Amino acid sequence: MVSYKQLGLVNTKEMFARAINGGYAIPAFNFNNMEQLQAIIKASADLKSPVILQVSAGARKYANQTLLQYMAQGAVEYAKELGCAHPEIALHLDHGNSFELCKSCVDMGFSSVMIDGSALPYEENIALTKKVVEYAHQFDVTVEGELGVLAGVEDDVVAAESHYTKPEEVIDFVSRTGVDSLAISIGTSHGAYKFTPEQCTRDPKTGKLVPPPLAFDVLDAIMVKLPGFPIVLHGSSSVPQEYVDMINEYGGKLPDAVGIPEEQLRKASKSAVCKINIDSDSRLAFTAAVRKTLAEKPGEFDPRKYCGPARDEMEKMYKHKITEVLGSDNKLAQL
Ligand code: G3H
Ligand code: 13P
Ligand code: ZN
Repeated sequence: MVSYKQLGLVNTKEMFARAINGGYAIPAFNFNNMEQLQAIIKASADLKSPVILQVSAGARKYANQTLLQYMAQGAVEYAKELGCAHPEIALHLDHGNSFELCKSCVDMGFSSVMIDGSALPYEENIALTKKVVEYAHQFDVTVEGELGVLAGVEDDVVAAESHYTKPEEVIDFVSRTGVDSLAISIGTSHGAYKFTPEQCTRDPKTGKLVPPPLAFDVLDAIMVKLPGFPIVLHGSSSVPQEYVDMINEYGGKLPDAVGIPEEQLRKASKSAVCKINIDSDSRLAFTAAVRKTLAEKPGEFDPRKYCGPARDEMEKMYKHKITEVLGSDNKLAQL
């Protein structure tokens, strides 16, 4: 058993409380490799932002769970080396799907876990989430639960109300489970293809796809039911057109990729939404930069020569999100 406190990590309780009061959101960036982690830490340490390092079950499998744990420990020291004397870094399990997986993460030094029972019948979601909370809270580990199902391109109607979190359920769910934060569905979705062209309109001037707006009325209704309670948005990559264009220009194929406009995330950040999940934008930045370098320098075979520019591009993207979208820069408790 390793406590996250021994690793220099923090749970999400205080950072969320400050984010809600301050009208900004904490970035939750997924990582699977060293370059992503370096870019996340460089961006957040330079900008004095609290940050959540997210690890999915797939990332654990890809990178090795023990290695990830030590990487997170190393990340704290790296942030200090970068001049951030008191970094606030949480290590969070993203989309945990079983009690066993959540327990294993708690036992290995994660400071926060998500139990995603959103696909289960309501009562089963409650029972599973409660079990995880009861275990995690013994070790001061915070827990994120989820209610509602994120829409995706497979749906005929992207904004089908049945997908959205039902405001009338949130008080019951939160009080019976004891979760510390709640992921909700208001129209975001995972990946680089969040909406089909049919689900969008087209900007008559640019011809670009314009996705349907997020359901801020549902968010408002949830905030009325749970005043001051931390809300989480998944599927919040904006799928920057510049990266999609770069990938397509250098041999990739991402037709009609579309994300959540940053303007809407900016608005959400000012509300009780205090954690915003971004993974796909990092994948796009990395892939765009690697494709460009390899296309321009076909003789290059040193991974540092193409992973280095990819890391720089991700850092630029993370910094943009922190300062221009989430507003979490200069928000460490001790600057
Ligand atoms: O929400 C899912 C995250 O983007 C993680 O994706 O399961 O492919 O690692 P992954
Ligand atoms: P994106 O695919 O929009 O980056 O969402 C990531 C996410 O929600 C991770 O849990
Ligand atoms: Zn997610």
